[in-house]
Amino acid sequence: KLVAFAAIQGGYKVVSQVEGELEKALQTYDASTKIGFPNTAYYLPVIYSLTGMKCETLEDLKKPMAFARGLLPPHVKGANHLPYLGPLLDAGMAGIFAYEVKEALRILREPDFYVVGEDPDIEAGKIWVGPADDTILRKRGVEFVDGSAPGFAAIVGAAPDAATAKMIVEDYQKKSLYIFCAANHNGKTVIEQCLEAGMQVGWSTRIVPFGPDISSAVFALGFANRAAMAFGGVEPGDYRKILMYNKNRIFAFVNALGDVGTEWAVAAAGAVNWGFPTLADTDIPEILPTGICTYEHVVANVPHTEICQKSVEVRGLKINITEIDIPCAFGPAFEGERVRGGDLYCQMGGGKTQCTELVKMAEMSEIEDGKVIIVGKDIGDMKEGETLPLGIFIQIAGREFQTDFEPIMERQIHHLINYIQGIMHIGQRDISWVRVSKAAIEKGFTLKDIGVVLHAKFHQDFKKIVDKVQVTLYTNKEDVDKLTAWARSEYKVRDERVDKMTDEDVDTFYSCTLCQSFAPSHVCTVSPERTGLCGAYNWMDCKASFEINPTGPNQPVLKGKVLDPKRGRFEGVDEFIKKASKGAVETYNFYSMVHAPMTTCGCCECIAAMLPSCNGIMTVGRDYSGDTPSGMKFTTLAGVMGGGASSPGFVGHSKFNVTQKKFILGDGGLLRMVWMPKMLKDELYDKINIRGKEMGVENFADMIADETVGITEEDILPFLQEKGHPALTMEPLI
Ligand code: SF4
Ligand code: NI
Ligand code: NI
Repeated sequence: KLVAFAAIQGGYKVVSQVEGELEKALQTYDASTKIGFPNTAYYLPVIYSLTGMKCETLEDLKKPMAFARGLLPPHVKGANHLPYLGPLLDAGMAGIFAYEVKEALRILREPDFYVVGEDPDIEAGKIWVGPADDTILRKRGVEFVDGSAPGFAAIVGAAPDAATAKMIVEDYQKKSLYIFCAANHNGKTVIEQCLEAGMQVGWSTRIVPFGPDISSAVFALGFANRAAMAFGGVEPGDYRKILMYNKNRIFAFVNALGDVGTEWAVAAAGAVNWGFPTLADTDIPEILPTGICTYEHVVANVPHTEICQKSVEVRGLKINITEIDIPCAFGPAFEGERVRGGDLYCQMGGGKTQCTELVKMAEMSEIEDGKVIIVGKDIGDMKEGETLPLGIFIQIAGREFQTDFEPIMERQIHHLINYIQGIMHIGQRDISWVRVSKAAIEKGFTLKDIGVVLHAKFHQDFKKIVDKVQVTLYTNKEDVDKLTAWARSEYKVRDERVDKMTDEDVDTFYSCTLCQSFAPSHVCTVSPERTGLCGAYNWMDCKASFEINPTGPNQPVLKGKVLDPKRGRFEGVDEFIKKASKGAVETYNFYSMVHAPMTTCGCCECIAAMLPSCNGIMTVGRDYSGDTPSGMKFTTLAGVMGGGASSPGFVGHSKFNVTQKKFILGDGGLLRMVWMPKMLKDELYDKINIRGKEMGVENFADMIADETVGITEEDILPFLQEKGHPALTMEPLI
């Protein structure tokens, strides 16, 4: 019988082909030409992890190719030998090594073939993201370890049509699996089908477009091996441990959609080494012998409606899906999805209406667990394009619950609402924004579902402190305004709890990594005098959060030696962020925006920017949508530096932070402020004057320009001169 012939033949074919490509590359480029996957310390990860070979130059690629050649089993003469697994797995592995070299050669020849970053740039026509860089690995890989992603489905090929592709992919998304896509079937790909079906693809929606060819399937295996090295502590070269780690810990499998030829067959055989079985929608006669191992390696002719369920079963994956009784799908896979203009049905907040969130502790007898009350219009009463005010008021009772926990629960609203498919949540506190898509409306989404989700997840995630949850949603303007006024007085009390404390008072700061799902290398460090840039978390809140959840996103950070008192650099903090960002960020200053500022994520309340010709700085809040003297609107600024990087000259901060004593003190402090939107200036007016006076300037708020004065540096400079603004005579900013 011609068992396994296709895979072994595939091995020969691919290895020979790539040997040829390498030969050609060596004729075109110097042998010392650098090769590699961009922004990674893992060399070519499959080759490195399994053999320990560090491929850095074109010349270096000869070694793994020779190794691959050596793995190929002696030629199958005739067809009368017995099936056994060894040579097959070896042929598969040879094919995988060759595919990785092939991809390295592609990146050498076409450095722009893959997009940089997490998500494709559809407008620029760049769909393929290629190998994960180290930032992506850090953030996404850890999800495979902490269980927030139970595994991945590697899909090669294409479904018969877009609707089928969507069905299959959404099934996996609902199970919180990642979907790694590679290869095409007759020129069609699952990714293009997803796009055609109106889905959003990229790491942020867990639908990862690796590449259009079967060779790009190697990125899935590379990702798995890097996770084993980074999080499983497996040493490169220890191939047994790497493969065992994957078999036991990374629950993955392959779905082959389309005819399986020799090139797919060798990839499938390769994946068996990792313990990843292949399920196909077609008849695949003789790739691998079945019945040799504990589970089937290959299952053919699986109907599309069953492929998800069947794959999960075959791989022996246990998935706890939270059954939450709402009409839309729910889970972390939907967190990163956006509701863009054309998809929008209606919205609340975002500067158009008021949208406020408040969590308050209640007595046990005061509330009814699971009750969701809607006061006012619901979404069913709204027309397309309409806006509504919204007040989300949550009452929590629990024997162990304390008022200190309120802000922590309140901050969960953000990601929990984002988990609902088709709903997007931005911001926090009294500047929240909820966008509802047409697709969600079609499925029957109503406001009540927000309450259902919050009730269910608060119970699930905070068992220790939560006994009862009741949610009230207000949509009448008067009610929302009333709630907002109350909420603001609550926020004020919370903020002021740290008012009298200084950074010198404490020896421990707290980290916050809640936002890493959006901004991978972002690590907030929260000190008494530098509240979280979202405005929703101060030092007290982080401390309380750590008490509730000692392994959670808020960890104590020992300050350690003070390295720079003026700009606020601390040895302990540097050590911590280096670790927490896995080396992406080495250091940052607490009190400077000019020199190594803190990292910024997209949820900051305000963004400050330097205005060099005024020798000062400006800041702009999320609620101001106009132009600013930096030449950028808030949204542009947030887009440019909200990804978790440290961007000298810019920093995200909370409103409250503006009048905290250490605000950019290393750059001269609040007296550098030359421009703010009027709205923000009015809101902080008294506090600015108090802080200004402390710094020796009377009526400082009136010296700060706003949009009524001008929106360019040129326009505001005469105003500043006339007012005698202190920044003009301070030492140069840079
Ligand atoms: Fe935490 Fe910072 Fe995100 Fe606020 S902005 S939730 S402090 S990581
Ligand atoms: Ni096996
Ligand atoms: Ni954030």
